[in-house]
Amino acid sequence: MTTLSAVQRAVIGQPQARIDGPMKVSGGAIYTSDVDLRELLHAVPVCSTIASGRIASLEFAAAEAMPGVHVVLHRGNVGRFYRISGNSMDTGYVDEARPPFEDDVIRYYGQYVAVVVADTFEAASAAAAAVKVTYDVTAHDVGEALAGDGEPKVESERGDAARAFDAAAMSIDETYVTPVETHNPIELHATVAHWDGDACTFYETSQAVSNHQGTLMQMLGLPREKVRVISRYLGSGFGGKLWMWPHSLLAAAAARYTGRPVKLVVSRKMMFQNVGHRPVTQQRMRLSADADGTLTSVRHDFVNHTAMADEYQESCGEITPVLYSVPNLRVSSALARRHVGSPTAMRGPGAVPGLFALESAMNELARKLDMDPVELRLKNEPRVDESTGLPFSSRHLTECLRAGAEKFGWSQRQPGVGAMKRDGLTLGWGVGACCWPGVRFSAQATVELRADGTARVVCGTQDIGTGTYTILAQLVAGETGVPLDRIEVALGDTALPLGPISGGSAVTASVIPAVLDAVRAAVAIVTARAAALSESPFSGAKAGSLAFGAGRVHRKSEPPQSGVPFSDILKMARMHAASGSGSAKGGFDDPLKKSYSVYSYGAHFAEITWQPEIAQLRVSRVVTVIDAGKILNPRAGRNQIEGAVVMGVGMALFEHTMYDPQNGAPINSNLADYIIASHADTPALDVTFLDHPDTVFNEIGARGIAEIGLAGVAAAITDAVYHATGVRVRKLPVMIEDLLGERSEARRDG
Ligand code: MOS
Repeated sequence: MTTLSAVQRAVIGQPQARIDGPMKVSGGAIYTSDVDLRELLHAVPVCSTIASGRIASLEFAAAEAMPGVHVVLHRGNVGRFYRISGNSMDTGYVDEARPPFEDDVIRYYGQYVAVVVADTFEAASAAAAAVKVTYDVTAHDVGEALAGDGEPKVESERGDAARAFDAAAMSIDETYVTPVETHNPIELHATVAHWDGDACTFYETSQAVSNHQGTLMQMLGLPREKVRVISRYLGSGFGGKLWMWPHSLLAAAAARYTGRPVKLVVSRKMMFQNVGHRPVTQQRMRLSADADGTLTSVRHDFVNHTAMADEYQESCGEITPVLYSVPNLRVSSALARRHVGSPTAMRGPGAVPGLFALESAMNELARKLDMDPVELRLKNEPRVDESTGLPFSSRHLTECLRAGAEKFGWSQRQPGVGAMKRDGLTLGWGVGACCWPGVRFSAQATVELRADGTARVVCGTQDIGTGTYTILAQLVAGETGVPLDRIEVALGDTALPLGPISGGSAVTASVIPAVLDAVRAAVAIVTARAAALSESPFSGAKAGSLAFGAGRVHRKSEPPQSGVPFSDILKMARMHAASGSGSAKGGFDDPLKKSYSVYSYGAHFAEITWQPEIAQLRVSRVVTVIDAGKILNPRAGRNQIEGAVVMGVGMALFEHTMYDPQNGAPINSNLADYIIASHADTPALDVTFLDHPDTVFNEIGARGIAEIGLAGVAAAITDAVYHATGVRVRKLPVMIEDLLGERSEARRDG
């Protein structure tokens, strides 16, 4: 079932190479830290070396006297910052609400206490090291074992989960722990701030320029038109660049103070301190079932750590009420304050740690029931979203499980621990389902059809490396027949029409209606002008007969065509260049969510090899099937899922930000000691997209990809580890000590 026109089909759903690829691989793409401006100065922050206490003294005279140094900024001379008035995705949202230097209190290791501004990065770095800070130290707590502060909050409830659990024949009650993980995009966070009179331009590493603008204008006390934020290319972000962090304000203040443009690049070490992380989570799962595997209750009680002064919640229970059919359910949350920088969204926030717990618990329950874990999931497939009673817009989880099992060869599974061997290695097989909400945000776009036969499409969203530039060009090409290499795409600038955040895997679904509106409006103007002047080379083209009218009409069942041949549109555009605008509404209060439950689904099948003689464990292959509606670009899409699965290998086996109990510092704050999965760790990957357009969500039927690919992977891997070794690891990452049977209760408890 497809609603695409022939020309759309030629570009949409095709594995197009990224149009920005050549610029990036040839060094032509300018990233924030590449930006060079006349008279540019460099800022390097001074970071606290304690995790809790108060600044007693700050000696900077010697630093300020060093060659090339312009100023050391601190609480006394940095100038005014303001707190934003309430977090709102529309007007400004931050995870760390406190402006830098607001008081002398230290709440986490690495908190900025001063910033040096100098002619060169080297001079600023040397002077920053020469600033002497003394502290009145108070006790800190960076412990991983969590007990919630205060009463848990009920997130979702139906039936009586406690009673059903107590009455059940079969149940499990286990606690799962995920550690602090740190986003490590290759591109470091950076800001280049440049004042022109009372207006400031920011070159930023931002996944959300419009939100960044809203935050900066409030925290600097400027009107919107005085703040411009530009983020043309990003070397990824994983959520760490969604919201503004204090260094942007430091760069602004340094530029304000010196009257010159200032660049501030956050170091890799600071990336572990000052720009967010995924928090520790501790999740108690209680599941019960009848002997045939029918779930009778699910309880999911989670705690995550958060900063002393902020409220970040990792919504681990977000997917739990939706994924399986169960009459009795209760999900609760709690926060535990620690002396750490604020956590923030990291790829698949909530669902990724949450589904490690839920899917691990399902696998453990299947073992206890002596049931195939795929069958257990199929058995508990819901017919509607039981948390709301709403129908699913489009849900094909069972097909993901069946297709994945088929591709993987799951029917060959011998469930006994250590029962499967190949080439002298012990094999382990595991499965995990995944799910992620379908989200769309408000978006505006403008499309120009130009007299030279090219087109230009603009939108103030960003491309974090996922292929947004290419998707926008594909949408325009599908409506006009203009080839991709003749379409210019401009993104990442608040001077452009408002675009969505590059977060929540929401960009594609957000921009589809806006861009289609815009390009159809442009085509309508072109054809109407041609018809009015009777110059149309296509005799049937009359303005009144166009299918798109004002460009706001969504027709689900008809191909989105004007009825005018594309060659004629292009000819007409040569005489009547035109520009059209489009917009679409969305957000967390999307009215569609009152009628439909919109999620993407998938299943991962993982194989590990275990060689007990040398204690070597490898993830050898992963088969993934994803149901994310229509995939606009299967090449960029597959890249997203493959990258996410590799990140899932890292989550299962490696990633763990450790805090030094002595001083509260994230201690493995570099790419040598913080282990991420590398090419050598990459299993054989097999990604399949089911092609079921979700036309309730938008006329092309695309939901989001990317984040969903990370959810469920770690649960599939740890179940495979159990299958091969007999060791059940509930605290990530899997350590070699676990497999040698030497993980002590002490480590298990943090
Ligand atoms: Mo994603 S964590 O919404 O960038």
